[in-house]
Amino acid sequence: MRALARLTVATTLIAVSAAAIAVATHADAADTPAPVTVISKDFEDGTVQGFTGRNAEVLAASTAQAHDGTRSLSVTGRTATWNGPALNVLSTFVKGTSYTISVWVRMADGSDNARLSVERRLATVANYETVVGNTAVTNGGWVNLTGRYTLSTDVDYLSFYVETASTTGSLFLDDVTVSYTPAVPIQTDIPNVKSVVTEFPVGAAITGAEILNEHGQLLSKHFNSVTPGNALKWDATEPTENTFNYTQADPLITYAKANGLAIRGHTFVWHNQTPAWVFQRADGTAMTGTADDKTLLLSRLTNHIRNVGGHYGSSIGTWDVVNEVIDESQSDGNRRSSWYNIAGLDYIRTAFKVAREVLPNAKLCINDYNTNVAAKRDFLYNLVATLKGEGIPIDCVGHQMHINVSWPTVADTEAMIQKFVPLGVTQQITEMDVSIYTSSSETFPTPPADRLLSQAYKYRDMFALFRKYASAISSVTLWGLADDNTWLDTYPVSRKDAPLLFDTTLQAKSAYWGVVDPTKIGTTTTAPTSPTVSPSSSSTGNPTDSPSPSASSGANSCSVTYRVTGSWQGGFQGDVKLTNTGTASYATWRLNWQFTAGQTITQLWNGSVTQNQNAVAVFNASWNGVVPPGGSASFGFLGSWTGSNPAPTGFSMNGNVCTVA
Ligand code: XIL
Repeated sequence: MRALARLTVATTLIAVSAAAIAVATHADAADTPAPVTVISKDFEDGTVQGFTGRNAEVLAASTAQAHDGTRSLSVTGRTATWNGPALNVLSTFVKGTSYTISVWVRMADGSDNARLSVERRLATVANYETVVGNTAVTNGGWVNLTGRYTLSTDVDYLSFYVETASTTGSLFLDDVTVSYTPAVPIQTDIPNVKSVVTEFPVGAAITGAEILNEHGQLLSKHFNSVTPGNALKWDATEPTENTFNYTQADPLITYAKANGLAIRGHTFVWHNQTPAWVFQRADGTAMTGTADDKTLLLSRLTNHIRNVGGHYGSSIGTWDVVNEVIDESQSDGNRRSSWYNIAGLDYIRTAFKVAREVLPNAKLCINDYNTNVAAKRDFLYNLVATLKGEGIPIDCVGHQMHINVSWPTVADTEAMIQKFVPLGVTQQITEMDVSIYTSSSETFPTPPADRLLSQAYKYRDMFALFRKYASAISSVTLWGLADDNTWLDTYPVSRKDAPLLFDTTLQAKSAYWGVVDPTKIGTTTTAPTSPTVSPSSSSTGNPTDSPSPSASSGANSCSVTYRVTGSWQGGFQGDVKLTNTGTASYATWRLNWQFTAGQTITQLWNGSVTQNQNAVAVFNASWNGVVPPGGSASFGFLGSWTGSNPAPTGFSMNGNVCTVA
C-alpha cells in the first residue's frame, strides 16, 4: 500500500515553536535541529483557517473569546460528543515524525472534559487515537491540551480534532500549533545494552513508532527482544467476534524477525483492552456466569488463542498467556474480573491448555505487577503451584516491575525471585520501568536531576540483581524504548514521566549507564548532577547556586542574553543564550539565576531545568554541553507569571558570575 502522507514539510512554514520539547544542539551551529512549527492557527484573520466540523458543526472566527489577540474559533451546533473542530493534516504529517500538538480550549457554557484525538483512515477503515486524554474545561478560562503524536502507518486520511467526554456544548478553540523536532542522531559510540547484559535477552515494549527511523536504529542497536505493547491485545486482534486483525502487530513482528529480535507475545487474556462483546451473550445481554455463559466464554477464549497464537506460530517464542489475574485484596487472591466472575479459574486453565496445543514450543507465562509485594507474590505462588500440580502447562512467571525511584527495595525484589525458584518455572522481567514520581500528586515540568540519579541507581541495582539470578531469569524487558513514548505520561495521571534508559531525544541517560557501566552514572549531561543532591535523596534538590562575588575570567567566563520573546496573560516564552567569553571550552554547563516575581518555568527545551521557588538551574542537554571559546548554547522555555515579569539581573555559569548582555 502506498503512503499518502506527504514526505516533506514546506520550509516556508518553518518557525521556532513554543510548544516543542527537549530540542537539540548548539544554537549557532549550522546543523542545529531547531524546533519546527508546521501549523500555527490563531484565527486573527477572521477565517476558520482550514478547520472543519466533523459533522454539522458551525465554525466561525469569533470575537466573543480570544486566548490571545482578539479572535478564536467558535464551534457551535455539535451533535455528538465526538464531533468538534477538526484539521486535516494528511499533507503535513510525515510518517515516523513525532509531532507536538498544542491547542487552547474553553467551553462556551458550563463544563466538560475535552480530549485531543486523531482520526486516521486507510481504504475507509478508520482508527481513532487519543493524543491528550480527558482534561477538565469550563467556560471560565482557557485550558491547554498538548500532546505528542507519531503517525506510524500508511493513511489516506488524517486529522486531529477536539471532542468532549459527555456534553455537546459549544466551545472555543485558539492558538493551535503543531511542531516537531528534527531527529537527533542516536549515539553510535556507546556500548549496546544487549552486548553488555548477555545473561538473557534484553527487550523493549514497542508501538508502531519504535521501529521507524532513529527509533528503529536505537531499538536494534541496544535490544535483542521486543514486546508489542498493545498490538497483540484482544481489542487490537479480535475487535469483533471471529474477525481477526493483525494490521497493528504484523509490521512489528516483521521488523523483529528481520532484525533477529526475540518476541514476547502480550497478551491473550487480560481484564483490560478486551472488547465488551467478549462478555456478552449472542443477544447482547451481559453474561452472568451461567453454565451456558461459561461455555460460550471459554469457546471464545479458545478460538482467540487458536487464531492469534496460530497466526504467529513459532515466530513468538514466549506468550503472556494470562495477565494480572491476582488481586491480593480478595481473601482468595483471585481478581474478580469478568473472566473470573463468569468462568472461575477455568479461564486460566483453558488459556494455558489451548496455548500449549497451538504453541507446543513457546514459553507460556503468567504475568502480573507488584509481585514484589509479599501478599501478592504469595497468592501468585500458590496459584501457580496449584495449577502446575494439576498439570496446567505454566512455564514461566512474569514480573512486570513497574517501579519507581524509591520503591521497591532490592531485598524485596530478591525475595520475589527466590520465591518462585522452587516451582521450576523460568522467570521474566516483562514490563520494567522506573518512574521518577513517588506519588500520584507529584508533577515536574522536567525530570529533576536528583530523581534521574536515583533512577540510575535503581536500574543499576535491579540489573545487578537480575544478572545475579541469571539461572532463574530468561528475559528482561523494559516497557518502552525511550522517554518520548511511555505509558506513564498518562498513567496514573497525566504528567511527563521519564522512566526509561533513553531520553526524549533518544540519548542515553544516567539510567542507561546504571545498566551498562555504573561508574559513568552522573556523567551524562542529559541527567545532570547537582552538587547539592545525593543519590539516595528523594527531595527535588536545591538548584540554588549563589553567584560568586565577582565576574570570572579564563575558563569559565560567560555572557548571558535573556529575552522574553512572547508574553500573554499569565504565561510567557523566554529565550536564553549563554556565550563562552573565556579561553577554554566548557565541557558541561549549569546556568543559575533567581526570578524576582515568582515566575515558574513550565517547559524547557535544549536543556533541563530544576526550580526551587525563585532559584532556577538550567543544565545543558546531552548535545550542547561542550561550548568552545566564542561559541554559545541557547535554550528556550515557557513560563508562568502573575503581576509582573521582570527579567533576572544576575546569572552564574558553573558557579561563576556572567556578564549580562
Ligand atoms: C499499557 C500500554 O503501554 C498503554 O499504551 C495502554 O494504553 C494501556 O496498557 N500492564 C500491562 C500492559 O500488562 O499491557 C500495560 O500496557 C501496562 C500495565
